[in-house]
Order: sequence, then structure tokens, then C-alpha cells
Amino acid sequence: MISGIKLAPSILSADFLHLGAQISEAEAAGADYIHIDVMDGRFVPLITMGVPTVEAVRRTTTLTLDIHLMVVEPERQIGPFIDAGGDIINVHIEAATHVHRIVQEVRRRGKRAGVSLNPGTPVTAVEEILPEVDQVMVMSVNPGWSGQRFIENAVAKVRRLREIIDLGNLQAEIEVDGGVTPQIAPRCVASGANVLVAASAVFNDRASISENMERLREALEAIRREA
Ligand code: DX5
Ligand code: ZN
Repeated sequence: MISGIKLAPSILSADFLHLGAQISEAEAAGADYIHIDVMDGRFVPLITMGVPTVEAVRRTTTLTLDIHLMVVEPERQIGPFIDAGGDIINVHIEAATHVHRIVQEVRRRGKRAGVSLNPGTPVTAVEEILPEVDQVMVMSVNPGWSGQRFIENAVAKVRRLREIIDLGNLQAEIEVDGGVTPQIAPRCVASGANVLVAASAVFNDRASISENMERLREALEAIRREA
């Protein structure tokens, strides 16, 4: 962890044939969470990973598993993903009709509850639930794929959320997900985020996982020195 900032590599762009080794390398390079993108082919077009993947990842690491449920009717999925080993269960506010009940259930089971907002969803959509959640995830791409370009409105949304959380003395952490690179990461942190998800900036064929993690860490250390 870099002075309170957590890095959450997303395995969405990992090499699935060598997933265990890739996760071990990310862990050795200082990953705080492993972010797992669950897509159902309905909330978003693709189908990605499910319960068996989470179970397998759970067996290979003790890191916090940050489960990002991009699914419709998330209330039907929280139990299975908790049983599979998820630690933070994030549901999309756009998909959760009874978000309060979902958050209560996740916490009753001793896990951390997160809510995610699509780029077009205003911060006000999560204001009432903020005191009840452990994490709020600001999507900085439209969910569905890794490797997309960072959408700028996320910066202002993070800033507004940080104000509300600090003013209310709330505990929710702010995670940014999508298009995070060593160039973008410092701006997310400067606006008040403290958890950064990165898929294609960590798992790519340009450099090793540890080199990529190092680049993110160096970019964040640089702003700390300037502050
Ligand atoms: C997008 C996923 C993200 C994605 C991020 O739907 O929620 O977690 O993996 O990928 P990058 O970091 O490549 O934008
Ligand atoms: Zn995600």
C-alpha cells in the first residue's frame, strides 16, 4: 500500500491459462486487492467469470477479493459470491432495486459492501446509502471491457463524493475503476480516491506485471513527494 492508497489489479486482462502465476506475481508486486469482474451478458454485453473462478482465485491467494458484480438482479448473486470467497461485494446501483437490503445482507454475513456507479449515474444516486457502505466505486469507463479510455467526469464525481464522505464523517472508501494508468492514477488520488483498479495497465504484453505495478506505484509516490 502506498500511503493509504490501495492497488487492485483486475484479472479481466490477465492470461487466464496462467492465472495462478499471474496473481502470485501481482501479489508479490504489492497488490492490495484482486479485483474480479463478473459480467452476466445482460447488465453488460459479455459474460466473463463466475463462482468457480472466484473459488479458484480464493485458493491461490489470501489477498482481499474485490468482486465487481456487473449483473442484473444482484440480490440473487451475493450469497454465491460470498460463499465462493469474496471479501468486498460491489453491486451496481443501476441494477439494485433494493440496494439497502443487499448492503445489509452482505454486512450481516461479515463482508464489506460496495456500490458502483456507471459514468452516467449521478453521485446523488448513492447519497442515501453512503453511510451504510464500505466502498463506493466510481466507474471511469462504461462497464463491459478492459482497455477503454478513462472518462474525465469521474474526477469531478470522486471529488464530490470525497466532500460528502468527509463532511458526513463517513467511512466509505472511494475506488476508481476503468482506464487507470500511471498518468491517470495520481489525478484520481488527488481528487480523493483511495483504491485504484487497473486491468490493462497491469496485465499486458508490454512489460511484466511487477514492472507495471512498479510504474503505478512510482507515479503515486511522485505526487506524494510533491504534496
Ligand atoms: C470494466 C471493468 C474494469 C476493467 C478495467 O467493465 O469493471 O474493472 O477490468 O480495465 P482497464 O483497467 O483496462 O480499464
Ligand atoms: Zn471492475
